Amino acid sequence: MVLNCRSLSGLVLAALALVTSACTHGEADAMALTHGGDAARGKELIRTYGCGSCHTIPRVPGAESTVGPSLQGEATRAYIAGVIPNQPENMIRWIMNPPGVDDKTAMPNLHVTATDARDIAAYIYTLQ
Ligand code: HEC
Repeated sequence: MVLNCRSLSGLVLAALALVTSACTHGEADAMALTHGGDAARGKELIRTYGCGSCHTIPRVPGAESTVGPSLQGEATRAYIAGVIPNQPENMIRWIMNPPGVDDKTAMPNLHVTATDARDIAAYIYTLQ
C-alpha cells in the first residue's frame, strides 16, 4: 500500500474509531458490536471449548495457560493475531477457523459454530 495523506488520514480515523469504541465497551456494547452476541453465554462456551487450555482469559476460572497470548485487553488490540483488523466479523471468523485466516497459526480449528463464535466474540469484547 502506498501511504499518502489520504490513506494515512483514513488509517488514523480507523485507529481512532477503534480506540474510541474499545474504550467504551461494556457487555451491552459488546452485544451491539457483535449484533446480538451473548457475552455471558460466550464466557461459558469458552470453558466448554477449552480455550483456557492455551489462553489466560480474565474472569474465566482455570483459564491461565501461556501457550497462546493472554486475551486480557483483546478488545483494545488493533489486530487479531497480528494478521487481520480487530473487527467483530473478523473475530468471529478467527474463532471459527484460525488456520483459514492464517495458515501458519498454531491455534487449531476447534470447529466452533457461527452462533457460538458470535457469543464468544461478545465476551472477548468485554476484555479491555
Ligand atoms: C491449542 C491451543 C489453543 C487453543 C485451544 C485456543 N487457542 Fe486461541 N490462540 C492460540 C495461539 C497459539 C494463538 C496465537 C496465534 C497467532 O498469533 O497466530 C491464539 C490466538 C488467539 C486470538 C488472537 C489473540 C491476539 O493476539 O490477537 C484469539 C482472540 C483467540 N486465540 C481466541 C481463542 C478462543 C476463543 C479459543 C477457544 C474457542 C481459543 N483461542 C483456543 C492457541 C490456542
